[in-house]
Amino acid sequence: MQTSALSRPAGDPEPRTAPWSNPLVDSRDLRMPRIAGPSSLVIFGVTGDLARKKLLPAVYDLANRGLLSAGFGLIGFGRRDWDDRTFASFAEENVRAYSRTPFNESTWRQLSQGMRFVKGSFDEAGAFRNLSATVSELDRVRGTRGNHAFYMSVPPKSFPVVARQLAESGLARSTRGAWRRVIIEKPFGHDLKSAIALDRVVSEVFEPDSVFRIDHYLGKETVQNILALRFANMMFEPVWNSNYVSHVQITMAEDIGIGGRAGYYDGIGAARDVIQNHLLQLMALTAMEEPVSFSASDLTAEKAKILSAVRLPRDLAAHTARGQYTAGWQGSQKVVGYLEEDGIDPSSRTETYAAVRLDVDTRRWAGVPFYLRTGKRLGKRVSEIAIVFKRAPHLPFEETATRELGANAVVIRVQPDEGVTLRFGAKTPGSAMEVRDVNMDFSYGRSFTEASPEAYERLILDVLLGDPPLFPTTEEVNLSWKILDPIEEFWSTQGQPQPYRAGTWGPQEADLMLARDGHHWRMP
Ligand code: BG6
Repeated sequence: MQTSALSRPAGDPEPRTAPWSNPLVDSRDLRMPRIAGPSSLVIFGVTGDLARKKLLPAVYDLANRGLLSAGFGLIGFGRRDWDDRTFASFAEENVRAYSRTPFNESTWRQLSQGMRFVKGSFDEAGAFRNLSATVSELDRVRGTRGNHAFYMSVPPKSFPVVARQLAESGLARSTRGAWRRVIIEKPFGHDLKSAIALDRVVSEVFEPDSVFRIDHYLGKETVQNILALRFANMMFEPVWNSNYVSHVQITMAEDIGIGGRAGYYDGIGAARDVIQNHLLQLMALTAMEEPVSFSASDLTAEKAKILSAVRLPRDLAAHTARGQYTAGWQGSQKVVGYLEEDGIDPSSRTETYAAVRLDVDTRRWAGVPFYLRTGKRLGKRVSEIAIVFKRAPHLPFEETATRELGANAVVIRVQPDEGVTLRFGAKTPGSAMEVRDVNMDFSYGRSFTEASPEAYERLILDVLLGDPPLFPTTEEVNLSWKILDPIEEFWSTQGQPQPYRAGTWGPQEADLMLARDGHHWRMP
């Protein structure tokens, strides 16, 4: 997160802080908020779910926190027959519904004055000429100074055409000290081959340091806290290795189904949707060595080493699991099965649950399995990383005293109830010596008065500041596909994923997968 003044493109405002900068080489006050300079954001796919629920509210929250320039511009590009005012009221409706900070009339007035809508489809050259004219108008009337970011909140198959149109209309070129950047939403392709092809298209149009690939998990405070926990403290790192750790469980469980996303999800499935990106990133941050600094290149170097050292299980049938939810109860609500969801092919083999065992062939992690699991319509919404420790080699107690003692664990609670739990044994009160598991909790909500920003707030701000450490590089994306491709290939030769009832914790296969190794999944 260190932005060097030397490498900052001309026209970029000087970021007021860099939270991970090294104070020895940076004398600025690191507690000052970082504020984006004159700029605008153009959103392709602005009427989609992501833009409505995350991007527009994040832009508003940034404005409300005073982190955008006064003349910030926001352009929606889409096929609807809208003018600027209709777009602004669409944005207002979603901001009121989904933003994190309270609605403030004066923030809104200022922000909405910079909102524009450009009507058109991606293959219409004329629409991109209009976009170009709109961007120039913003430069004139809002002082955005030619600094514009393009957010591709569109399916990957549309990336090439949008990139080409941006190139042909001259919008992609940074000129005269003004920057142009592109933000690409995941998934980056659906396998290694398509990811490489996609990258080729993008790199023909944009300079490598103008491309920001979003993995919104990296924008979460609790994910960045993995680095703080591990590298700002003394007490964790000495035991963070195969001498002490039995195994690691990384869980991203959701209680929701696929909602209105059938078109995107069917054929993609849980592993491509989430393991290839969010979970492998969490694994890399958990397993990597201390980076030289928190600059993008130093972080990538360490994460890439881990991703390159991942070894797949030889027996994929025994060490991976796939499931598909069937009808059931989610709390008090009756919900349909995946195959009955609107827009899903009733014979679909797409998995809504995936679990894999991965090993990391390094001295630190030899013999320590990393279990990754994710699923929709599970018992509850929770994401966590659990470092589960070995049993103490000797227990100087009567056997009955430690019958209730489980394994020690450090659990990084990514969401909800963000924080960290230490699980260890303590003596139960009374005259007998009896040891039982207890939890010691750090909670963001109770320890800090300031609420955590949403991941997209942080990431959009970083793009506007040109700050790249929280964005996965092409190398990381490709290494992640290399890990997943053989698993997907194996699954494609198997039949239907194993059914699991909505509201439960996934298919039996997944429990067996851990039981074979003598472990069981934590119940978060
Ligand atoms: C997205 C996936 O990347 O993450 C979705 O495509 C998933 O399927 C979402 O629902 C979950 O994000 P979060 O931040 O709510 O855990």
